[in-house]
Amino acid sequence: MVCLGNICRSPLAEGILRSKVDPEKVLVESAGTGGWHVGEQPDPRSIEVGKANGIDITYQRGRKFSPYDFETYDHIFVMDNSNYRDVIKLARTEEEKHKVSRIMDELFPGENVDVPDPYYGGANGFDNVYSMLEQACEKIAARI
Ligand code: 4NP
Repeated sequence: MVCLGNICRSPLAEGILRSKVDPEKVLVESAGTGGWHVGEQPDPRSIEVGKANGIDITYQRGRKFSPYDFETYDHIFVMDNSNYRDVIKLARTEEEKHKVSRIMDELFPGENVDVPDPYYGGANGFDNVYSMLEQACEKIAARI
């Protein structure tokens, strides 16, 4: 699960998908394309909306997406079109490019829908992000 800062959207996506899969079988992690928040806990507003929905993300710490992640993970879900461009730029092969998709393609395939960055907005932006990610992760979990 990849966003820009790895403190708002992708930590929630990680927490939500983790809650829906067997941890013995599926590894779910997150990262940011930017490195400003490496080592930090998720944004308090993401922690809050997760908690309100029974998802604990306080254990997470920010990390920066690495090209090696293409080798570690079978699939890379990005939150928006800007993340998509940033991650695709780091792919070295067609196979690596094919691992990347926008998470909202799960609900609206081919429409290039963004999970909006809630960082500079109010708390209801986080409720909206949560709801979008919950629906998308349900689809992913059902498939895997
Ligand atoms: P995220 O939100 O990509 O959902 O984690 C952001 C968090 C921090 C920044 C940008 C987006 N930032 O510029 O510090």
